This record gives sequence, C-alpha cells and structure tokens, in this order.
Amino acid sequence: MNYLCFSLFIMGFSLAGHGKENVMKKTWLSRVKAYIFSSVFTASHAKGETMNLIDKIQKLKKAKKAIILAHNYQRPEIQDIADYVGDSIELSRKAMLEQEAEIIVFSAVDFMAESAAILNPAKKVLLPSLGARCPMAQMLTVDEIKRWKVHYPHAPVVLYVNTLASAKAYCDICCTSANAVEVINSLDADTILFGPDRNLAEYVAEKTGKTLIPIPEWGFCPTHLLFQPEDVTVLKMRYPDAAVMVHPECSSEMRKVADFVGSTSKMCRYARESSAKTIIVGTEEGLLHRLRKESPEKHFIVAYEGAVCPNMKLTTLDRLYASLKEEKHVIKVPEAVARKASVSLERMFAVKS
Ligand code: 13P
Ligand code: SF4
Repeated sequence: MNYLCFSLFIMGFSLAGHGKENVMKKTWLSRVKAYIFSSVFTASHAKGETMNLIDKIQKLKKAKKAIILAHNYQRPEIQDIADYVGDSIELSRKAMLEQEAEIIVFSAVDFMAESAAILNPAKKVLLPSLGARCPMAQMLTVDEIKRWKVHYPHAPVVLYVNTLASAKAYCDICCTSANAVEVINSLDADTILFGPDRNLAEYVAEKTGKTLIPIPEWGFCPTHLLFQPEDVTVLKMRYPDAAVMVHPECSSEMRKVADFVGSTSKMCRYARESSAKTIIVGTEEGLLHRLRKESPEKHFIVAYEGAVCPNMKLTTLDRLYASLKEEKHVIKVPEAVARKASVSLERMFAVKS
C-alpha cells in the first residue's frame, strides 16, 4: 500500500510539472488523492468479512434482478464478482442487449455507464462511485468541437467513446480502441476530426493513411501517459524473449517498442494466442488480473507499476454493495442528448470489425 501511495504521489508530482492542460491535470491530481483516500479508508477486510460482503452482494443481485458489468481495469475482487468483464465496446454491447435484468450495475467510469443508459434506456443503470470520472472524457466539450468544425466544415467528427454524452450527441460516429481503424475506414472522407485522444488519433492515422485532426490538440489519458519506452528497454534486458503489448492510448514511442497494439480485450486475446511465455503489458495494471486468470501458465509484467487509473479503482466491494442496496447512483442522460448520442453509438455498432 505504501509503495502504491508513493508511486501515485510521484505520478501526481510529475504531471503537475508539465504546464499543458493544467485544468485537466488538477482534476487528475484530485482523482489521485481520492484514490489514495479510498484505498486507505476502504482498508482491506478480513477474509471472513469479504466473503460475507460477497454473499450479500450475490443475494441482493438475485433479489433485485441485477447484473454487474465490470471493466477490465476494475479491482480483482470486482472482476471476480461481476457477471461479465470486458473492454468498453464489449460492455456497451452487453448493456445494449441486456433483456432479463432490471438493474445494470456498471463497475467502470462515467462515460461507460452513460453509454449503457443511452443504449438501454429501459434499465436502471447504476454507477457505484459517482467520483469515477474519466479525465480524458472531460477534455472535449461541445464548444471545442464547434470551434474545430468552423475550420473543417466538411470533415466528419469521430469521437472515442471516452467522451461525455453531450459530445457524443454532437458527432457523426463513435469508436472504441477496438474498432477505431474500421470506423475510420468506413467513412468516405480523408480528413477527419478525431477526439479526444491524440495518441489514438495518431495510431489510427498510421493504420489508415487518413488525416486525423486531433481535437482538442492535446487530449490524453493521464494513466497511459505514464508509460515510457525506457521501462520496456530495462525489462527487456531481463526478459529478452518477452513480447510487448500496449494500449493505443500510449505514446507513439511506446507503440514503437510493442509487438502488439490493441484494446484491453484484444490484448487478452493476443496473450492467449501468443507463443511468448513472458509478456510486458503497457496498460492499466487491473488488466493483469484477467490476463493471469485466462493464461495462468504465462508471466505478465506491467511495464510501469505506477500506471493506475484512480477512477477505475474507486469501485470497491463496499461501494458496490451500497450501490445495489440503495440503488445509487442512477445514471440518467437527458432525453434529447441521449437520442442524438445513441445514433452515433449505433452507427459504430453497424461497422463490421
Ligand atoms: P478499452 O476499450 O480498451 O477497454 O479501453 C478503455 C479505456 O478507458 C482505456 O483507458
Ligand atoms: Fe480514462 Fe485513462 Fe482511466 Fe481509461 S485509464 S478510464 S482513459 S483515465
């Protein structure tokens, strides 16, 4: 725990020194503090208490006809109790197609729960921790999109799902890191406004040969920003045969040292199919739980241990239980916004990937 707090402190310190996107970094630093706070004060339960909590969640889930969807970055105990664990497109699809359940508990961050509420408005969608907000999603406002549209009136607007519902309502089509290349290739345009992740924009531009204008200019994920190729170089000295896989939210320097670039679930597939016995992972450390479960014979090493998404970690067993019990926090998207945003999301689902 002390090591984790120390890493987060260093991480926050290095972010504060950059100068660019200061407002976002302040938001990020407050999330880091929230994570340290939540980690310390939702201190580990004794084994018996944890089992009791798990049992209570299972019973409540059944009684209330609820399902738990969890993102690949969630804490191990949350992944283990979930009905389904996946990347953002898989979770959205699952939420969209859910028929039986009356409640969907979305153990992830705000924009993912919002997408579920948009795609399946008949269900009650709960986000266990209201503070679980993706800072990247807040980097792109509707005003910013409008500003760029003035300069590129004919360019379609493609938005990563890591955006607020209001922004989704203002774009032509959404994408995730799992289908961004296919979405861009499906468009009859060579110049495209793409946001908010600049790294993903660069990666997709490389793959498609199209011109992607990043909006805003410097949108980024504060967690993936922490991965540095030097860390991989050092690990490769010790594990020369290791394969390297990274998320496209990492920098181009990280992509250059990678054998595979893909979404969190695509990385799981790559790990299952790869002949490499040791794999260096360039994404949030939560994925390692699923990787180790699915490929127990392999050795996974996170490229940088401090790369934790504090927002994803805000969901704890206690909060999940309270969320189910009190049916909080209900995620609602204003109807007019939801109607438009669902068009952008459904267009994405229509693209073959
Ligand atoms: P995936 O869609 O790959 O799960 O990524 C979501 C995300 O937030 C990555 O930081
Ligand atoms: Fe957002 Fe990055 Fe956390 Fe993903 S890892 S939810 S992009 S802050």
